Amino acid sequence: MKIMKFFKNQVKNVLWKFWMFRGIKSLKKPDSYMDKIRCAVNETIYNKLSLEEKDRINGIEQIRKKFTQNPTPVDITDFGAGNPDSKRSDDEMLKGITHSTTYGAICLGSKPSLWALLLFKLIKEFQPQTALELGTCIGISAAYQATSQKMNGKGTLITMEGAESIARLAEKNIASLHLDNVKVVCGRFGDTLPKVLKENQTIDYVFIDGHHDENATVDYYEMLLPHLSPRALLVFDDISWSEGMKRAWKKISCDEKILLSVDLTMLGICVMK
Ligand SMILES: C[S@@+](CC[C@H](N)C(=O)[O-])C[C@H]1O[C@@H](n2cnc3c(N)ncnc32)[C@H](O)[C@@H]1O
Repeated sequence: MKIMKFFKNQVKNVLWKFWMFRGIKSLKKPDSYMDKIRCAVNETIYNKLSLEEKDRINGIEQIRKKFTQNPTPVDITDFGAGNPDSKRSDDEMLKGITHSTTYGAICLGSKPSLWALLLFKLIKEFQPQTALELGTCIGISAAYQATSQKMNGKGTLITMEGAESIARLAEKNIASLHLDNVKVVCGRFGDTLPKVLKENQTIDYVFIDGHHDENATVDYYEMLLPHLSPRALLVFDDISWSEGMKRAWKKISCDEKILLSVDLTMLGICVMK
């Protein structure tokens, strides 16, 4: 069983690296921002890590390991689209759907280590002062991004989560890694994002990894627009997750306000003009 899981993960990693490789191959023109993305992707594919990076990432992965097998039940209210076949109505997403699950099952929603490393490397290249994450879950990707900011010697991360029980757990996990540059904001994005944007006029980096609904994703992009600094970096997760998410990515990546976009099949990366 363990051997099967190991091989399955190896195959997934090869496929994901192929997606990353194919994505950056499409970047033809020489450009300093493309170079930064290329560099982040290459360092991720070849797992180029300093000893300090390795050590800090190990600490985060220990937390993932601790929760992956955790059968403790927990009630959560989910304001997202569920899974690609759920077809939740706008009203259901507005009110949220409360259900019982386990910490182990929740943890499966965290970005796998390869993709989380890419976020870490992108932050290392782009050096954002103010970073925003929509979708905290138990804080794994937040920890990667905030650790990268710590190692840059600058920057704070605001990470947003709708489910109260998960947000509180993320806070604990982030604190256990001594990351004092993170603020967890709890509530539905539709309610919390306007306030966060009012308090943070300029945003340099955004990772959108929650909701996974076509209209909501485009709406968040439009809400973010007036607050993005020149050459801000936007990372959209799960751009091939559903037909709706594919359309959302197509709309956003073709927007005239975007300088360049890269499709890595799982993630889409945009640099603003
Ligand atoms: C895929 S998980 C995030 C994983 C996390 N970024 C990581 O890689 O560690 C998405 C999270 O977004 C939250 N979420 C989805 N839709 C939301 C909404 N409309 N408002 C607030 N939170 C939402 C869910 O509760 C869930 O925990």
